Amino acid sequence: MTTVAKNGGTTPKLIIEGLSKQYGAVTALEPTHLTVPTGEFLTLLGPSGSGKTTLLQMICGLVEPSSGRILIDGRDQTQTPVHQRDIGLVFQHYALFPHLTVAENIEFPLRMRALSASEIKQRVKDVLKMVQLDHLAARFPRELSGGQQQRVALARSFVYQPSIILMDEPLGALDKKLREHMQIEIKQLHRETGATIIYVTHDQEEALALSDRICLMNHARIEQLGSPHEIYAHPATAFAADFIGISNIFRGRVDNSNGETRLATRHGHFRLPTGASFSGAEAAIVIRPEQISLGGGNGNTVVGRVTDAVYAGSETRLIVDLDEGETVIVRLPPGQPTPGYGERATLGWNPDAAVLVP
Ligand SMILES: Nc1ncnc2c1ncn2[C@@H]1O[C@H](COP(=O)(O)OP(=O)(O)OP(=O)(O)O)[C@@H](O)[C@H]1O
Ligand SMILES: [Mg+2]
Repeated sequence: MTTVAKNGGTTPKLIIEGLSKQYGAVTALEPTHLTVPTGEFLTLLGPSGSGKTTLLQMICGLVEPSSGRILIDGRDQTQTPVHQRDIGLVFQHYALFPHLTVAENIEFPLRMRALSASEIKQRVKDVLKMVQLDHLAARFPRELSGGQQQRVALARSFVYQPSIILMDEPLGALDKKLREHMQIEIKQLHRETGATIIYVTHDQEEALALSDRICLMNHARIEQLGSPHEIYAHPATAFAADFIGISNIFRGRVDNSNGETRLATRHGHFRLPTGASFSGAEAAIVIRPEQISLGGGNGNTVVGRVTDAVYAGSETRLIVDLDEGETVIVRLPPGQPTPGYGERATLGWNPDAAVLVP
């Protein structure tokens, strides 16, 4: 992706150094380090209560950190008030002014910044076009659908051209179809403006679709930071594997007894990926559904009964209940004969196709 470097290109847009938040006995965010390059689309992804909103609100200045520093364009802004940070905000609930029209809502941040009337007019016109609301400029929020209201909120955050835009579950209140449409619009706004975007969601598909990098959060800290593909192909933990994409996870004990290191699980002893290293006596292997094939000739084998077989055009999905009681999800390429509901299936995978996690 090409990015617009608004600050000369070398200084990261945002640096977070040891930022933490404590509410009495509750740790909302452990001391956290994070660097966001200019123009990046970074998504904070994680379960409820993992600290996403807390981190976002400290970045914009709505919540005061318990420790640490926030640098924007290399300058310490930890003590800078919200309205002086050059940051745009979009929340799940659009927070439009009900007594102002669409155009007036969008003008609002420009009036706050005392731009000339002609400049305001031009900018509002441009941004309305960008979010395809030109024809609705004179309407009031109550006369708009949810998706249209959210587009007004987006337009209002982009109109004064902040160099960082923070979005906290901006599509959370919309239905699936509209959400997917709005994802494309947000992507386009990002491309057109070159803004640095930090986006919060707990929807992994949304994170995969939008992000340059995903910052996966769990229990008030960063669990893994990387591109969607890096996290999908090389999950650092079982949590990461489980949260992003579909995973088959087998837990077990590291066993060195027969001259080769294997993972002893209740489904058998599994060979490990080449070069795998361990941090403890317990570990797990993660195998993605597309890495499993029918037949046992791949080094590692499990056996079970098919409890669901779904033909999905480009693939067939099998759900197999293993004899020892776990469920495996398999994605097979089209055109391959597959066992049907209730039939026995032998499944295998190449040891190198698995990822070992603590
Ligand atoms: N003002 C507050 N006072 C006390 N505890 C708080 C406060 N704000 C947040 N917390 C706690 O901090 C933790 C992190 O909250 P946060 O809102 O950052 O989570 P989140 O990842 O945004 O979750 P969600 O997906 O549900 O929005 C939670 O345990 C929450 O209860
Ligand atoms: Mg939140």
